[in-house]
Amino acid sequence: MTNDNSVRLQGKKAIITGAGSGIGRETSIRFVQEGAQVVLVDRNTEGMKQTLQSIQALGREAHTIQADISKESQIQSMVNTAIASVGDINILVNAAAVLIRTQQTHQVSEAEWDLIMNTNLKGTFLCCKHVIPSMINTGSGSIINISSVSGIRGAGYSLPYGVGKAGVIHLTTMVAQQYTGNGIRVNCVAPGLVDTPQSRGSTASTETFESRIKTHPMQRVGTPNEISNLILFLASDEASYISGQTVIIDGGERASAQ
Ligand SMILES: NC(=O)c1ccc[n+]([C@@H]2O[C@H](COP(=O)([O-])OP(=O)(O)OC[C@H]3O[C@@H](n4cnc5c(N)ncnc54)[C@H](O)[C@@H]3O)[C@@H](O)[C@H]2O)c1
Repeated sequence: MTNDNSVRLQGKKAIITGAGSGIGRETSIRFVQEGAQVVLVDRNTEGMKQTLQSIQALGREAHTIQADISKESQIQSMVNTAIASVGDINILVNAAAVLIRTQQTHQVSEAEWDLIMNTNLKGTFLCCKHVIPSMINTGSGSIINISSVSGIRGAGYSLPYGVGKAGVIHLTTMVAQQYTGNGIRVNCVAPGLVDTPQSRGSTASTETFESRIKTHPMQRVGTPNEISNLILFLASDEASYISGQTVIIDGGERASAQ
């Protein structure tokens, strides 16, 4: 897949959460390059500013809305503002999430569980809930949720993260069952380790990062650009017969697991 076809999302209006960093930032830039009008959403205004600057460096513009995806009133108001700015929404990418490394199950605090679940699972639900009516208005839409291989396999950095990401996969299946008949395709991507601030951050140590590379069949982790290629494909009309799917994108790591 190349980056030089600039019409794959022409005329589409997209909301991208987590647009202030990592995969959400890369996806925002890719979508703009492909002709979409993009609304950047993040709680981190500084991160969004940097994403916007990268978009402006391409001679393009984007809307930015600060919102915490775990708060329904903020999501309701974010969606209203987005629709007032660009019109009905065609694409929703749910990329915002937190990864907080936790101990064994018996040591996980209620606060850790609530923060991770409220952001990663409830936040994804809230964004779907409030964007779907706009997609129903137009009779079409594409939602791409971001899960993780942590939502599929037993090993992981955090019980609530893994369980929440498993929830995102099933949420995708059920929302697809409910709305594919309305012309709304709902899919999910489940990346392995990707080189972003989340994976490089305090939650996953450099040592862990390096050890994953050593055992990886490609001897490397994924790049945000590689993940955005898949998100772009699922968002575009090229994926017109795909709904209700979760696509693992891990460079063959799971296939090589013992
Ligand atoms: N990086 C990886 O290795 C990896 C692997 C599998 C899945 N993922 C998933 O991919 C997605 C993107 O991850 P990333 O690595 O780019 O992370 P990142 O930390 O670089 O970016 C996440 C963004 O989400 C925002 N965010 C967090 N909580 C928020 C909230 N409550 N409201 C609004 N914004 C909020 C952050 O401010 C940040 O800008 C996440 O869903 C993540 O779980 C990442």
